[in-house]
Amino acid sequence: MSQQAIDAVKSYYNTKVESFFDVWGGEHIHYGIYHDDQESLSEASQRTVENMYALLTDVPANANVLDLGSGFGGASRFLTGKGHRVTCVDVSSENNRINRQLSAEQGIDAITILEEPFESLSLPDKTFDVVWSQEAICHSAALEKVFSEALRVLKAGGEFVLGNTCCSESIPADVLEKLNQRNPMTLQTIDFHSKLAMSLGFEESVCMDMSDQLSLHYSKMLQEARAKEAVMVARDGQAYFDRVVRGLAYWMHMCDEGYLAWGIWKFVKPSIEGAQ
Ligand SMILES: C[S@@+](CC[C@H](N)C(=O)[O-])C[C@H]1O[C@@H](n2cnc3c(N)ncnc32)[C@H](O)[C@@H]1O
Repeated sequence: MSQQAIDAVKSYYNTKVESFFDVWGGEHIHYGIYHDDQESLSEASQRTVENMYALLTDVPANANVLDLGSGFGGASRFLTGKGHRVTCVDVSSENNRINRQLSAEQGIDAITILEEPFESLSLPDKTFDVVWSQEAICHSAALEKVFSEALRVLKAGGEFVLGNTCCSESIPADVLEKLNQRNPMTLQTIDFHSKLAMSLGFEESVCMDMSDQLSLHYSKMLQEARAKEAVMVARDGQAYFDRVVRGLAYWMHMCDEGYLAWGIWKFVKPSIEGAQ
């Protein structure tokens, strides 16, 4: 991943972080799983973390977990609540600052935060029982490196639980290019992720297409932004607020056209040495 690409992500996530927090409904910057359309963003986003956690089958009580692209640390704090120790990796100093602040306010000290790219981790081989990541690796133009790093730092038999923003198979190339240019990301299809992970040596044990949740999630974000309009305008100005609303309308349009997708997976590192 080039330094220029990393800088673009940093600048995206280091800008107006309080408003970002408002629009995403709190400590989670990922999609929610809704039981009905009355639920709030934060309830549905919390359910995603719980459902992903339920995918793990072989986790020691005091597991060592690595959260790739940990953002404000919502999932990491949930995981410490389960008795695990979590290492957060994120390139955004602002998201890490909020993560540190929220974790300190909640008296959580089982979280270590590293400010580095998940394409080249400073961590030793075979260290983690679980690698966790939500809606973060879509920002990487080097997915192969991210999966290779996850595989390298997992212990044999370790599990990689992943949620990621994807594009659909039907998205036209020019629409995808524009979408990737608007945000610093490189969207791939759900199938691309599965094939890549398996080609590198992971076994795929779960793959769920959750794309039907996206439209409601973006409409909830739009509601949340409108509810916080006064605060956001006072803090960051009308032009910024209007840009956020236009951006969300664009994402909703992408959902309505069937161009966006959302995958959740569990990959397993084979437990027999050499099975990769
Ligand atoms: C949409 S947020 C998701 C945050 C968190 N996983 C969550 O679910 O709330 C994406 C996060 O990935 C981080 N990120 C993006 N590219 C990265 C990279 N190459 N290395 C490390 N972190 C990265 C961003 O800074 C941001 O905090």
